[in-house]
Amino acid sequence: MAKAVRLDKFLADAGAGTRSEVKKFIQKGQVQVNGETVRRPEQKVQPDTDRVSLLGEMLGAHEEFVYFLLHKPAGCVSATEDQREKTVLEYIPSKRKGLFPVGRLDKDTEGLLLITNDGALAHELLSPKKHVEKTYFAKVSGIFTEEDVRKIEQGVDIGEEKLTLPASLEILKTVETREEGPYSEIHLTICEGKFHQVKRMMEAVGKKVLYLKRISMGPLVLPCNLEKGQCRPLTREETVSLQKACKTMEK
Ligand code: URA
Repeated sequence: MAKAVRLDKFLADAGAGTRSEVKKFIQKGQVQVNGETVRRPEQKVQPDTDRVSLLGEMLGAHEEFVYFLLHKPAGCVSATEDQREKTVLEYIPSKRKGLFPVGRLDKDTEGLLLITNDGALAHELLSPKKHVEKTYFAKVSGIFTEEDVRKIEQGVDIGEEKLTLPASLEILKTVETREEGPYSEIHLTICEGKFHQVKRMMEAVGKKVLYLKRISMGPLVLPCNLEKGQCRPLTREETVSLQKACKTMEK
């Protein structure tokens, strides 16, 4: 069995922060050992058997994967770090190392983004063979016609080797305004994730995306009470349905 170590050392070794950062978490009452809040950094813990958590997340030998659902606002990039731009990770309160966004939304795209440290699950969700469905709400320039719908549903040329896979598209409304010009609002469901895929699909039918928001991915749906810039951990049911979906989705 491993030797008992100081709590602050244990937390720093588990990647929760520097020694001085983790001391602050302890002093603020954010750390629990076996369910009890501990405020002394020098308290000894047994790494193999004690259950140490920071802000409710288990660390060390009892570490679990974490899954956050973020309502990504426009203006931040889907990266773990960036020299100039704000990243999506800056919206996540977790101190856990190794978190990353599952796939990318463009800087100006809003909506559902899964953030996790579970590389295997992310790999499954992003695998082109799995055909995970993603639904977007989009406001596009011009008036969408039934002919455009038919083209998008059958597959369009976006400059790749093959046409896009069949998608489904619903016209929600078409509006003729003098100020903004004509525009349409649509729901588009695709099961691929090519770079700028939605924008390129719209261009293929002569439209320009004016606003884009992802509203679902696989079994996950953007909750209507989750404000832009807010995140919350997945519920147990959401995590299970995601894991199940990854196992059962078409190869
Ligand atoms: N398609 C796009 O064009 N942009 C996104 O952010 C997501 C899908």
